[in-house]
Amino acid sequence: MEQKIGRRKIILSGIQPSGKLHLGNLIGAIRNWVRLQDEYQCYFAIVDMHAITVPTEPSKLKVQTLDLAAMLIACGIDPNKSVLFIQSHVPEHAQLAWVLNCYTSMGELNRMTQFKDKSAKQKDFINVGLFTYPVLQAADILLYQADLVPVGEDQKQHLELSRNIAERFNYYFPDTFNLPEPMIPEVGARIMSLQDPTKKMSKSDENEKSIIYISDSENEIKNKIKRAVTDSGANVKYTDKKPGIKNLIAIYHIATGLSIPEIEQKFANKGYGEFKVAVAEALVEYLTPIRNKYLELKSNQKELKSILASGADAARKVANKTLRKVYKKIGFIVE
Ligand code: TYM
Repeated sequence: MEQKIGRRKIILSGIQPSGKLHLGNLIGAIRNWVRLQDEYQCYFAIVDMHAITVPTEPSKLKVQTLDLAAMLIACGIDPNKSVLFIQSHVPEHAQLAWVLNCYTSMGELNRMTQFKDKSAKQKDFINVGLFTYPVLQAADILLYQADLVPVGEDQKQHLELSRNIAERFNYYFPDTFNLPEPMIPEVGARIMSLQDPTKKMSKSDENEKSIIYISDSENEIKNKIKRAVTDSGANVKYTDKKPGIKNLIAIYHIATGLSIPEIEQKFANKGYGEFKVAVAEALVEYLTPIRNKYLELKSNQKELKSILASGADAARKVANKTLRKVYKKIGFIVE
């Protein structure tokens, strides 16, 4: 495609302001966002329109949206390098999603496992937004002609769908969308619940002990790791047979930078108790600077809003260009 020649590669990713940022979000996605900022042109969206697909208290949504912006900056997203914005500030997302709805089948959306899981929890009223959620996600990605989409493993199916929608659209209207690739980390793509290591760590989990929030205090982190469920064995080994220990090894690997074999070697003759203490300490060291920065940024709402407004301006320029191209191709009258 013509824009590809000599252009800087483009990254887009998104995160819902539907709760506090947790360790799964940080390790599965945000860490990669931070690392990619120098090399790529990055767009990071706080996807408030996705968040309302499940019942959401408006006053909470407002607080969580700005809190998430503060947290992302505290984690290392630099608004001078990357475009950080709120999805609803860029109306092109909803506009393109509508068009893409007309190029997506009911069957494709019915196969989405996240829809199946989330709709099972909303027996009385399953809103259509929850069903078409992945189409909005495809619009998020395709508007920016993204090359790479750094996400955790749970988003893989949505990304495959985005690619299929793009391919279908390009079949009818060649050279419209760039085809995005997922970027999923090798270790930590799926951080598990500390209370049930067969389930992913998730903001919708009611058991607070299963989640480490990035804003947790030192004591909270230590207590949660100490109580993390592990198997009855004693060897610190990175294996699917020991999902609890495997999860803690992944966390320790990210927090310390030590490789998996180095970690297994270091704790070869030590029990789980000793390992857990080390994990908790490493994690406190890893998260404390982020937490302190977050507390500092959170109080400056004016500055946060101004960063997000500039981000939305920059995002709209790109998004509008793609939307106009799509509108023209499908036969809408574009002045
Ligand atoms: P969300 O808000 O649930 O999660 C944000 C990011 O965190 C990753 N993640 C995890 N990674 C590892 N282990 C976990 N336990 C874990 N939990 C969450 C997610 O994979 C994600 O990368 N639909 C998306 C948001 C979205 C989006 C987009 C993403 C909307 N539009 C466009 C990419 C591109 C979601 O609900 O993520």
